[in-house]
Amino acid sequence: MKQATKFVHAGVEPDPSTGAIMTPIYQTSTYVQAAPGVNKGYEYARSQNPTRKALEDALAVIENAKYALAFSSGVAATDAVIKLLEPGNEVIAGNDMYGGTYRLFIKVFEKFGLKFHFVDMTSADNVSKYINENTKLIWIETPTNPLINIVDIAAVSAIAKKHKLLVAVDNTFATPYLQNPLDLGADIVMHSATKYLGGHSDIIQGSLMMNDHDLREKLYFIQKSCGAVPGPMDCFLMLRGLKTLHVRMDRHCHNGEKIAHFLRNHPKVGKVYWCGFEDSPGHAIAKKQMRAFGSMLSFTLKDDSVDEAKRLLSSTKLFALAESLGGVESLINHPATMTHASIPREERMKNGLTDSLIRLSVGIEDADDLIEDLKQAIG
Ligand SMILES: Cc1ncc(COP(=O)(O)O)c(C=O)c1O
Repeated sequence: MKQATKFVHAGVEPDPSTGAIMTPIYQTSTYVQAAPGVNKGYEYARSQNPTRKALEDALAVIENAKYALAFSSGVAATDAVIKLLEPGNEVIAGNDMYGGTYRLFIKVFEKFGLKFHFVDMTSADNVSKYINENTKLIWIETPTNPLINIVDIAAVSAIAKKHKLLVAVDNTFATPYLQNPLDLGADIVMHSATKYLGGHSDIIQGSLMMNDHDLREKLYFIQKSCGAVPGPMDCFLMLRGLKTLHVRMDRHCHNGEKIAHFLRNHPKVGKVYWCGFEDSPGHAIAKKQMRAFGSMLSFTLKDDSVDEAKRLLSSTKLFALAESLGGVESLINHPATMTHASIPREERMKNGLTDSLIRLSVGIEDADDLIEDLKQAIG
């Protein structure tokens, strides 16, 4: 099946009881059993739910995976992956990634005896330097949030294979439409499905996709034991969102490209971070592992002051000032005080996440209207 067909049809069968083309919302906490242990494959809704099952089947198909698991949020999915580890284990992660992932690693898991190394992953060789006998997992985010750095998934996965390490990739920014990390050698794909997969800014949800059966069983055990599962209504909405991912992404990418070039040519704009520029540091790898360059971009102002950034952030009319990304509507964000506030300032500054950096999630409105909005806000 070609991608567009997959997104529309993935995982969904007509409902066996009525033929309903859309999977019903099975709003139930439990299932009646004919006799103890005799049931229809469903016992208790934390462990199994038919709407969630349809979603998990669909998520597996769109990421070219054998298995998928849905979670109540992106961080809950990440949390499940880290719970595969044991005290004393070490994780190598990027030095530029979503602030909530950093917070989960440092503030929640470090006290259980796990050690995290935050390193520049734009060079795969650099990752090798941090591998020792305690290393168990490499956590990749690419493109990164918010500096749109690119990590070579195939190169890092090849290094990991040599050392028998797991590789997990946060594929939130790229989506399965633009990038499939399992095909490049990764073991686990993680999504904040809250973003492009849902696509309409109305659900918090996460997902994990994998090919290895044992790994699926371990992660399923964590999913049902820890209980961070999404409700059936949210699974239904997510299934609906997936059906249009490819058409939304085409428009996101088209608008992202137009806005990236507009910003780059604006006399008051400093640096623009977008992996589609031919001279951007990660462009060659992005071209190799992605089908297009997405609609997430960040920029600084030549007047590199927080006050000027704050003025701009409060002046847009179409770009809404809000956390999150990947919805049909365009959002503008100030990572230093919003999405990445949990990263200590000196840590942020070291990695290029300056106080005045502005991040855009370019939506699917008319690109010319979005450009006009930015023009008037930059002034
Ligand atoms: C790249 C990335 N990964 C993970 C997350 C966490 O996902 P959620 O907010 O669904 O828990 C986010 C949220 O912004 C994100 O941007």
